[in-house]
Amino acid sequence: MKIAIINGPNLNLLGKREPEIYGNINFEDFFKSLQNEYQTADLIYFQSNHEGFIIDTLHEIGFSYDGIILNAGAYSHTSIAIADAVRAISTPVIEVHLSNIYSREPFRHHSYISETAAGVICGFGLQSYKLALQSLINL
Ligand code: DQA
Repeated sequence: MKIAIINGPNLNLLGKREPEIYGNINFEDFFKSLQNEYQTADLIYFQSNHEGFIIDTLHEIGFSYDGIILNAGAYSHTSIAIADAVRAISTPVIEVHLSNIYSREPFRHHSYISETAAGVICGFGLQSYKLALQSLINL
């Protein structure tokens, strides 16, 4: 099973960035542990701070991969273009967030991605990614 994780803006700073909200583990370390735990899955990880890169990546892998786990960061709340790209592809996308976006500032309560995602998982820190992976494996 080919599954990609795509992280959007500022998620390259996980571990350093607002650790009281996002925790103190960097994503690369977490990703290695995920790869070890799920050796039957072919996992690949992308991160970009650029909206266009995220869209290009969705186009490139979104017709051949079995699943995509997408944390578009703040673009979730602003980007109709990323939501349209999710709509355009055939690979199921699970939207994830580390934090519970509904318990935070009102501008985080709406995500354009949610309307088009196969499912949404938020509020469980890095565990959100693991739950999404398990869900894709079971889909
Ligand atoms: C986030 C939540 C977003 O509101 C925020 O802009 C992020 C991270 C999360 O994973 O909790 O960058 O997507």
